[in-house]
Amino acid sequence: MAFPTTRLRRLRTSPALRSMVRETRLTPADFIYPLFVVHGRDVHEEIPSMPGVYHLSIDRLAEEAHSIAALKIPAVILFGLPASKDPIGSENFAADGIVQQAIRALKDAQPDLIVMTDVCMCEYTDHGHCGIVRDGRIVNDETLDILQKVVISHAAAGADVVAPSGMMDGMVKAIREALDGEGYQDVSILSYAVKYASSFYGPFRDAAQSPPQFGDRHSYQMDPANAREAMREAQLDVEEGADMLMVKPALAYLDIVRRVRETFDLPLTAYNVSGEYSMVKAAAARGWLDERKVVLEALIGIKRAGADLILTYHAKDAAKWLSEG
Ligand code: PBG
Repeated sequence: MAFPTTRLRRLRTSPALRSMVRETRLTPADFIYPLFVVHGRDVHEEIPSMPGVYHLSIDRLAEEAHSIAALKIPAVILFGLPASKDPIGSENFAADGIVQQAIRALKDAQPDLIVMTDVCMCEYTDHGHCGIVRDGRIVNDETLDILQKVVISHAAAGADVVAPSGMMDGMVKAIREALDGEGYQDVSILSYAVKYASSFYGPFRDAAQSPPQFGDRHSYQMDPANAREAMREAQLDVEEGADMLMVKPALAYLDIVRRVRETFDLPLTAYNVSGEYSMVKAAAARGWLDERKVVLEALIGIKRAGADLILTYHAKDAAKWLSEG
């Protein structure tokens, strides 16, 4: 029955009808909010390439945790900037490292807030790579030993979820074994299972002071041209014991979000990365885009593609907008 009997515009005639037949809904419960934690006192410093995102010191985290919880955002993910860097990234697994301190401060202030940690080496190493470097190469298996120490230190500080992002082979298995071996069976793993070697990470590398000091990340992060390989990455992480999967970045990779969603039943997160954020902020600052409308449209698109959760720097603004209706 085609036109004129069938008219799709009928169900678009009023806001109430459009709302009733809406297929996808966005809520603050979908969001994970990234925090960049730094040493020092009373630091609340805006990151130049990411307006609205801040470096925060530990003493500012209680207030931040309360404001995130008040917006009904369930979770944060922590990125730390260490006091000093070395070849193996020692502060990454120090009991009083910046992220370990942040976990405790957030859990003290807001025990129900889910605290996730990014588990990687690049912010902590002087060479800026996500693994141990030998003869100019990033070596896989020695890196796993370090990642095991990192997750144990995060779990000991009270992290709920660890999120390995370094794209080392076997990282999920190594991390699960380390956690279980120390009695942390209840700490979950959100694997950055499908992480592309993307230029959309540019502003983050300023924010985290983590650009590679030589070469690039193409020997461990995925080629943006590959989709079948993403299924192999996700499959292996499921077999190794991941509790949740992530696809990163989000907007140029919505086909991958959809494919992972259709193939695996684990909760799926998409990472709406720094470059995706900064492009919108830059255009909005010039009056070229309506920030609120564009952000909510991008986020609903990510959810419609199949993500259950969205890791996004827009989380606080979007939660506010959603609560205003
Ligand atoms: C690695 C890590 C990166 C991001 C999150 N975790 C950077 C990279 O792989 O170079 C990027 C996030 C973003 O761009 O928002 N620790």
